[in-house]
Amino acid sequence: MTTLLISADSNLDDWMDAWREAAPHRPVVCHGRAPYDPAAIQYALTWKPPAGALNALPNLKVAFNLGAGVDAVMADPTFPSHIPLVRLVDQDLTNRMGEWVVLQVLTHFRQTLGYLELQRTKTWRDLTQPAARSARVGLMGYGTLARHCTPILRGLGFNVHGWARGPKESDITLHHGEEGLANFLARTDILVCLLPLTEATRGILDAKLIGQLSRGTPVGPVLINAGRGGLQNEADILAALQDGTLKGASLDVFNEEPLPATSPMWDAPNLIITPHVAAITDPASAVGNIVEQIDAFEAGAPLQNVVDRGHGY
Ligand code: GLV
Repeated sequence: MTTLLISADSNLDDWMDAWREAAPHRPVVCHGRAPYDPAAIQYALTWKPPAGALNALPNLKVAFNLGAGVDAVMADPTFPSHIPLVRLVDQDLTNRMGEWVVLQVLTHFRQTLGYLELQRTKTWRDLTQPAARSARVGLMGYGTLARHCTPILRGLGFNVHGWARGPKESDITLHHGEEGLANFLARTDILVCLLPLTEATRGILDAKLIGQLSRGTPVGPVLINAGRGGLQNEADILAALQDGTLKGASLDVFNEEPLPATSPMWDAPNLIITPHVAAITDPASAVGNIVEQIDAFEAGAPLQNVVDRGHGY
């Protein structure tokens, strides 16, 4: 019944401590710290595992991803298809993403970058300020994180709608599929992308998509992405910021991370860059969820939030 922590992050001690606190009766070992018997491992706690590492565990029952996005595990062709991979759905992580998204929407909508520029030149002048009810925020990728953002943004007065791969229950207008995308973009002034990275979504944030966004508010269109860098065509985003097709953008993720110092993105106008910190997983909170899932699983309950291998998330 041993659990293996196998993570590329540096906070291994935090995870080990959190696990021992939450499940003192469940032995845990840490990949890379001490030798262990691969055959003794039944559960893996995993974040960006080295290719082949999970396949080397012959008695693995479940792999728990330690973040919301599972693209790093899905990219490993040796990860056995019969092993369930569980996405992390955690209220603390969801709350953090909500904070970041709302912060970015308001920062652009209230023209904070413009006011900072005026402050630098000691200029007391107001900038056009439309009402929130006149702006439409489009949430692209309508899962747990986007659902959490909806009532917060609506409470601030924004019109909120969404786009998802397929039809879903929702109390907002939800466009879906390839055929719904153009309609969704044409009605979106501030685009918030929370999509997973899959073969279907790679590079989706490109010039063609940006060109379809609404120009219905003087402060838009704005692109906000906290999904994955692989969703972005960064050259297209840079060009759109430079020629004014995009009024602003906030990117938490990049094709290459850390973003190299030589990247022209650092100097892009009206771009806010954060270093993949929009929603960091808190080990103490996440471990509680995982231990509950394991207890229920061992009592015969089905696992929750299992990745659909066909869809890739
Ligand atoms: C962070 O990138 C996550 O997937 O949770």
